[in-house]
Amino acid sequence: MNAVEIEEAITQLAEQPFDPENFPFAFLEAFGNKETTIKRLRAGASNKSDLGGVLQTSNIHIKVCTEGEVTKTLAALRESPSTIRAKAKFILATDGQTLEAENLASDDSPVACNYKDFPDHFGFFLPLAGISTVRQITENSFDIRATSRLNRLYVELLKDNPEWGTSARRHDMNHFMARLIFCFFAEDTDIFIGKGLFTDTVAQMSARDSSNTNTVIETLFRAMNTKIADRDREGLPRWSNSFPYVNGGLFSGNMDVPRFSKIARSYLLHIGNLDWTKINPDIFGSMIQAVAEDEERGELGMHYTSVPNILKVLNPLFLDDLRAKVAEAGDNPRTLLNLRKRIAKIRVFDPACGSGNFLVIAYKAVREIEAQINRRRGETDLRSEIPLTNFRGIELRDFPAEIARLALVIAEYQCDVLYRGQKLALAEFLPLRSENWITCGNALRLDWLSICPPTGTGVKMQADDLFSTPLDQAQIDFENEGGETYICGNPPYLGNKLQSEEQKSDLKNVFDRRLDGWKSLDYVSAWLMKAADYGTKTNAASAFVTTNSLCQGQQVPILWPTIFATGHEIEFAHTSFKWANLASHNAGVIVIIVGISNSSERKKRLYSIDSDGATLERICNNINPYLVDGPNLVVESKREPPKDCSPMLFGNMPRDGGNLLLSYEDKMNGGADSVFQKYLRRFVGSEDFIQGKVRYCLWIERDQYKDALHSPLIARRLEAVEQMRLASKAGSTRDFATVPYRFVQIQGTAEVSTLIVPRHSSERRDYLPVGLLDVSTIIADSAFAIYDAPLWNLAVVASRLHLVWVAAVCGKLKTDYRYSNTLGWNTFPLPVLTEKNKIDLTNSATEILLRREEYYPATIGDMYDPDRMPSEFSDLQEAHDRNDEIMERIYIGRRFRNDTERLEKLFALYATAQKGDSAQVQSSERARA
Ligand SMILES: C[S@@+](CC[C@H](N)C(=O)[O-])C[C@H]1O[C@@H](n2cnc3c(N)ncnc32)[C@H](O)[C@@H]1O
Repeated sequence: MNAVEIEEAITQLAEQPFDPENFPFAFLEAFGNKETTIKRLRAGASNKSDLGGVLQTSNIHIKVCTEGEVTKTLAALRESPSTIRAKAKFILATDGQTLEAENLASDDSPVACNYKDFPDHFGFFLPLAGISTVRQITENSFDIRATSRLNRLYVELLKDNPEWGTSARRHDMNHFMARLIFCFFAEDTDIFIGKGLFTDTVAQMSARDSSNTNTVIETLFRAMNTKIADRDREGLPRWSNSFPYVNGGLFSGNMDVPRFSKIARSYLLHIGNLDWTKINPDIFGSMIQAVAEDEERGELGMHYTSVPNILKVLNPLFLDDLRAKVAEAGDNPRTLLNLRKRIAKIRVFDPACGSGNFLVIAYKAVREIEAQINRRRGETDLRSEIPLTNFRGIELRDFPAEIARLALVIAEYQCDVLYRGQKLALAEFLPLRSENWITCGNALRLDWLSICPPTGTGVKMQADDLFSTPLDQAQIDFENEGGETYICGNPPYLGNKLQSEEQKSDLKNVFDRRLDGWKSLDYVSAWLMKAADYGTKTNAASAFVTTNSLCQGQQVPILWPTIFATGHEIEFAHTSFKWANLASHNAGVIVIIVGISNSSERKKRLYSIDSDGATLERICNNINPYLVDGPNLVVESKREPPKDCSPMLFGNMPRDGGNLLLSYEDKMNGGADSVFQKYLRRFVGSEDFIQGKVRYCLWIERDQYKDALHSPLIARRLEAVEQMRLASKAGSTRDFATVPYRFVQIQGTAEVSTLIVPRHSSERRDYLPVGLLDVSTIIADSAFAIYDAPLWNLAVVASRLHLVWVAAVCGKLKTDYRYSNTLGWNTFPLPVLTEKNKIDLTNSATEILLRREEYYPATIGDMYDPDRMPSEFSDLQEAHDRNDEIMERIYIGRRFRNDTERLEKLFALYATAQKGDSAQVQSSERARA
């Protein structure tokens, strides 16, 4: 269960009549305990209470007591030996009138409240459901509750108005919900005069049987779209006159309201009774948008982006700089004034803004800085000079786009209250502005310069109805001639396998004829490209959260040269970190943040998370597209291996319908057939090697074919290969039907021995699992092979230096390193090795192999499991450590301090080698000339 579902469940429990017998079990059920668990507790089998209550081990001790005994009972629970023995985290006592509870494992203050109000404290109890990010949830508990209530209402309304759930009317439904949210907020924040005005009016004016609830609400909406002076003429009743003229596009357009059942009416009144002053527009928007999305409703917005994550983008992009400038300005009134003028001209533009969380947080932060300036200048009453319309967005879906605008309106009001006081805030709030500065459309098809134009001359077009404006809506210009623009956001990442046809065509639209290989790029790359193009026209800097694959492996040479060609550089970046959220199915994607600019004079900053979770900042000379302090270069595939090293080749591909391959049992079953046994070889691919699996293949040379056919087992299998190949659609396979005894692709075989390098290996391992196999083993195409290489080659592949290089330049597939011979091995910057170096490395490679032998029959997977290696296979780890020591001394005469230093050295060597290569090419060209 997620937090929203738990909130819903305990709210329902508190609304039911109190049942003393059942309460402890119903309470535990509301926190996601399974029926079988509850059954066992009821039966007493797992109930450890010594006080006649219910005690669930390692969780909670609950006791229902007689009236007035709650505090005493809680004390008894605290003192109970069973509570301590069973390691209960919580104790809870209630008599159905009041409820008291304590978290014994934390310093949180205890809860003491009326029984029916205990759901208000749902965040306090969340550890009971194993939800540990509780701080984030308790801080946003209002938003979670409001989302859960609105969701109930939404679902209930759709039951009575199924046509509102169709795509034709979904838009009206969303529009209606946005209006409701505004009314709930307005009635609790004095925007409407009289607390609870909207909810109370609906309660009083609509019949209890709910028959006219929709017409009452419709009347109120119409009133809010009509100036007070015009209401009589429009036939609006007197009671609607207590409502102000709101307009701002929010109450114009279609006024339809769905029909209400009695239940829906009561939900609505309930929602109105929440305290909407606590709404947090940066979180709420992302949560509420899930209500309108069938696929997302299950998670109810628990994927919302946390504020600290958003600040990882906004702070280095421009907020840090602004704050530093304010600090520098001290109390100098003129400098402060100039700074305020500068701030008022800043535009923030999120071209995939969802419900506007980046924009809201940016707006709030800028208002905070402005307020600080005003305080220092003694002008706290001053109206804000920061136009809300300078915080612009594009969003594909209409509901989030609507909510984004609403969230910004709410944020503006809350900032006005905070910095200027309620009275001044109210005086200027209504009517709402009617411009629409959040464009609903496809950001990869729209012209960003027209949506967020660099210069401004005033509003060109007033949107009549926020919710029905077409794509080419609202070209509002800015009052910010000469201002800076900051583009930001977390656009959809989507690797090429996950893109729809439409999205592929969006990418084509951005990249075609500009760069080759765009089909391999992640969808998010197009935002970076459009931002770079935008930056060539105006003073802008951009930063996006993206998948780390944009800065690893094959996407780097495709994308970055074109970005750099626009004159942009990476101004700051955050290396890989987990973009975690509270959605239950989401373990958190690994992302990076890249900030680009073509005009920054600021120092380049590289952020990373250290082992304690703290953020480190490093000032760099340059940040290259692999997010390393080093020259801007891209590593492209090479045909030749590093100097002195042996070539690494793909393994061999049978394309045989499985008929040339055999299991251990197949081999055993052919026991008496000596011809059959003669032509069997061990067949090893990545998985076989890592997991210690045993497979065989038939390996028959051309001059052995006739002899091999003497074995009926072989003959039958070769017949099957032939048939399979003949039936193949691929001509290249059919061509091999006449030679069924051989593999279709034979890249190489050994004369002495083979080094095997798996093509994929888990990123959790500290070393690439390279191995040495005997001459007769055939390598499958799921691995690479180096044939007959000196053993020191194994030491190189097994080194930490090689692993960090491969991780950077080959990239990853999900959570696996994706090894490539041409990109990872052939490009590996290896210094010229002396004979002594080679001997040392041969020795350390031998040592690694011997230590593995020592642990037989443990598999490579067992030995290189990072959770087990240090304790169970420490000799092997020490052998690797010695190998790294030898390798690293060859590079810099000492051990590297960390992987960052390793990568920087490797890139520096690579850059030098490139220069050498191009100098060589130039001189040979000169010689030719
Ligand atoms: C990962 S979400 C980020 C939204 C918001 N910043 C947040 O954290 O919730 C990406 C947003 O981009 C929107 N989107 C997807 N494709 C788009 C496109 N081509 N143009 C504009 N917006 C798009 C999605 O609807 C979604 O709201």
